[in-house]
Amino acid sequence: MIVRKASLNTPVQQPSSAPKFKMVAKTMLNLEDVLAEELIQMGAENITTGVRAVEFEGDMRLLYRANYTCRTALAILKPFASFDANDEQQLYDNVYRIPWEKTIDVDGTFMIDSTTSGEIFTHSYYAALKTKDAIVDRFRRNFGKRPSIDTENPDYKFNLHIHDNHVTLLINSSGDSLHKRGYRQSVGIAPINEVLAAGMLKLAGWNNDRNFYDPMCGSGTLLIEAAMSAYNIPAQYYRGNRFGFMKWKEFNLGEWKSVKAEEDRKIGNTDFDYEIWGNDIDEVVISQCESNLEYTKLHKDIMLHVGSFEHQDPPEGKTLIVTNPPYGERIKVEDLNKLYSTLGDTFKNQYGKDCEVWLITSDFEAMKNIGLHPSKKIALQNGALDCRLLKFELYEGSRKKKAKGETE
Ligand SMILES: C[S@@+](CC[C@H](N)C(=O)[O-])C[C@H]1O[C@@H](n2cnc3c(N)ncnc32)[C@H](O)[C@@H]1O
Repeated sequence: MIVRKASLNTPVQQPSSAPKFKMVAKTMLNLEDVLAEELIQMGAENITTGVRAVEFEGDMRLLYRANYTCRTALAILKPFASFDANDEQQLYDNVYRIPWEKTIDVDGTFMIDSTTSGEIFTHSYYAALKTKDAIVDRFRRNFGKRPSIDTENPDYKFNLHIHDNHVTLLINSSGDSLHKRGYRQSVGIAPINEVLAAGMLKLAGWNNDRNFYDPMCGSGTLLIEAAMSAYNIPAQYYRGNRFGFMKWKEFNLGEWKSVKAEEDRKIGNTDFDYEIWGNDIDEVVISQCESNLEYTKLHKDIMLHVGSFEHQDPPEGKTLIVTNPPYGERIKVEDLNKLYSTLGDTFKNQYGKDCEVWLITSDFEAMKNIGLHPSKKIALQNGALDCRLLKFELYEGSRKKKAKGETE
């Protein structure tokens, strides 16, 4: 684990005197560092990065803020019990002893997600079942009734984490995964996960200081994430009041409203003065993208084009291009090899040195046809697919040559 501290010139939230506790933000492979940076910016302390997770400390305001604004977190968990258990009976007994009635409403619903490693608990499902039994038995014996299980939309979501004989129970403060931003009213065949899109932008260095272009934008996830960052729109602005912590007994509505208002006041408070453009060959997908943009009220800030990417040049001036071409996994393209080779030619001949291009793909065979060497490769995971985010640095392209009146 790497311990992180805020750099000296990083503007962070002021420390507060409210009680602090440990939290764990879950994320995707190789997004841990960008998530740690987001948490530092909002005043998190004692940050350590792990695998797909970042541990940190803060108070309830930070828990609300992290849920509302973190672009690269999937969930914010709060550990609330840990103990050792050498067999299932010890697991049951220790779970039974926890005063669950202080956390769960007897008329509420709950579910347990579990991960186990080591030789004692080899089946995570059984460990979760034993934990559930201990919780409901405690309620039945003390109150004559018990909360029910709901795996779809529970009031309380718990994570049971067992490594060897060490057991940690955490409560999920986010509820539904934070990639469910609420802005995608309409999606194409293969929309990219919103947290992955936000993470790709951060890895690509999107700092709201140049134009942005996605030549294969689909339903517009990368465009919307880029624009939300550019206009300081909190990651969960469109989600509505749907967070797990709202069901907690310690939930303080006034405090939550004050954190939300603080963040909402920053919207539009930016000197971003660049273009954000999207393009896609599929008219239906572009109209889905349009309806997402209208829903987010970003339609006036993002320009869309319909057509094959080689017929649309990027905006003039310094431009970051981040795109998610078809992989051939979920989208069948007649000749993926041809598509990647045309993509490479377009980058080389039409984009020029003002442009920096990043693309994510899992199709390593088709990628060989791009005819360009990536200057950076970052392993990422898109659902079950192993992917690479690749950076291409471009030199003077035909756009510049055309401007000089030269021919190729
Ligand atoms: C994996 S999807 C992109 C999904 C998008 N990132 C999203 O979140 O919705 C790939 C997109 O490439 C588009 N596409 C395929 N061939 C194209 C081409 N020659 N020119 C432009 N777009 C193309 C498809 O229509 C599809 O929308």
